[in-house]
Amino acid sequence: EKGGYPHFMLKEIFEQPRTLRDCIRGRVSADGKHVVLSGVLDNKERFLDAHRILIVACGTSWHAALIGKHLFEDMCRIPVEVEYASEFRYRNPVVSDKDVLIAMSQSGETADTLAALELAKEQGAFVFGICNVIGSSIPRATDSGCYIHVGPEIGVASTKAFTGQVTVLAMMALMLGRMKGTIADEAFERVTRDLHRLPELLQEVLELDTRVKDLSKIFTYAKNFLYLGRGYNYPAALEGALKLKEISYIHAEGCPAAEMKHGTIALIDDDMPTVVIAPRDKIYDKTVSNIQQIKARNGRIIALVTRGDEVAAKIADYVIEIPEVCECLSPILTSVPLQLLAYYVAVNKGRNVDQPRNLAKSVTVE
Ligand code: M6R
Repeated sequence: EKGGYPHFMLKEIFEQPRTLRDCIRGRVSADGKHVVLSGVLDNKERFLDAHRILIVACGTSWHAALIGKHLFEDMCRIPVEVEYASEFRYRNPVVSDKDVLIAMSQSGETADTLAALELAKEQGAFVFGICNVIGSSIPRATDSGCYIHVGPEIGVASTKAFTGQVTVLAMMALMLGRMKGTIADEAFERVTRDLHRLPELLQEVLELDTRVKDLSKIFTYAKNFLYLGRGYNYPAALEGALKLKEISYIHAEGCPAAEMKHGTIALIDDDMPTVVIAPRDKIYDKTVSNIQQIKARNGRIIALVTRGDEVAAKIADYVIEIPEVCECLSPILTSVPLQLLAYYVAVNKGRNVDQPRNLAKSVTVE
């Protein structure tokens, strides 16, 4: 059942080239010209009329949702609000029939996410699910939806579901952007072609396994970790920190790289490793400045950079090189070495990786 791997989590990390292939199968054309999700196509009007998209989720699914905000705003020019399901449902949120609410949940059973979607539905919103477990409660309660099709996820730490969720959000944003005429053909085709290449790109990322395993040994005894990223990779930083916390029990904090200097920078010393996600994107130069600021305070830096990088790589203490991909899909690649880092640190510490203390796979308590 673990397919020869010592833990489900490692098996699921390594499955990602295949799970993403399954996720895009029949939905993305190889020539980069078409993306079709039937749940979106069948409800085209509701999406095109929407004044706003609300995404409700918890934990890792909430991190994927934050990337969704970037994708929809970039490609479809629709305002998006991302909410913790537990906060949304206990507020008195303003919802109308001009809203589309997306409930994002791997298990499809998270009590708060289900309650949030019921609340929005009562107030007239069109509710759409992005889930993994087929026939679970959330897909049954929604008007329509789209499965991520990554297969059963057993490890409590979500890995392949996260990359599947971001992939589905990217496909939705491309499709809606095209329908609305808010994305240029050239951009559409570039992203779609990269979506199609994701399985092979992930295979390359997984070749970093030994490198990350070696790095993990250096940092096993750190008491705190900081994860920084900007733009599309800010949620990937949050996700990297959550992975480390939940399975290794090391305190970790994810932070937008620029926000660091408004407080978190006070924590930096030679005891605290900082993981900086710094792919070559629009804000690369700014991220490099953040790396310099950490270095100036004797911080130890692990930088995730685009292959061939010479600037950030020279300042950082340790470097992990990611293949080149369009910016909006980069968190799908950068999140994987961070899954591996959390995994190996937890294994080095002898933790119960697949069933960390105090956690359950589906959170059905409120
Ligand atoms: O099944 P869901 O996606 O609704 O679950 C949400 C969270 O409970 C889940 O992502 C949790 O944060 C994971 N253990 C993170 O790895």
